[in-house]
Amino acid sequence: MTNRIGLYPGSFDPITNGHIDIIKRSLRVVDKLVIGIAVNVGKTGLFSLKEREKLVLSDIKNLGLEEFVEVRSFEGLLVNYAKKIDAKIIVRGLRAVTDFEYEFQMTGMNSRLDSSIETVFLMASENQQFISSRLVKEIFTFGGDISSFVSSNVLKEMQIQKLNNK
Ligand code: PNS
Repeated sequence: MTNRIGLYPGSFDPITNGHIDIIKRSLRVVDKLVIGIAVNVGKTGLFSLKEREKLVLSDIKNLGLEEFVEVRSFEGLLVNYAKKIDAKIIVRGLRAVTDFEYEFQMTGMNSRLDSSIETVFLMASENQQFISSRLVKEIFTFGGDISSFVSSNVLKEMQIQKLNNK
């Protein structure tokens, strides 16, 4: 029996409906998906690592995908973490042309570091393509409606955080 493990790495600050779309698509390609939340060295996010982990896990549970998806965090090189969990496939979502250069560079560097690991790009459905965590945060900061970009759980946590920071 095959047990193809995929690693979907990212900041997930916070997880968006675009990420969810990629997670669902990944499960058509891999048997098990590990969501690897990166400890972002030098990047202060909206949510702490623990909070990001909790939000991703609650979205996964609400989707009933916990049987196939694990949520983990990692520090250090992505390829080292992939090796550690025996993932031969790194999954990345590709949105627009603007993503390409960054992804192209990362894939090239990662494959030089470990040529046994393949990076696979998946495209979100057209109505989720444009969503990015950075813009979701910006829209939210200025009072815009982000309810169609994130889950109700993420929205609630963002509202709580806003109130606490007042
Ligand atoms: O969601 P993001 O912020 O675009 O994800 C970027 C991420 C976490 C995949 C990338 O920063 C990463 O792989 N970090 C781990 C450190 C590493 O391996 N860096 C070298 C990449 S070539």
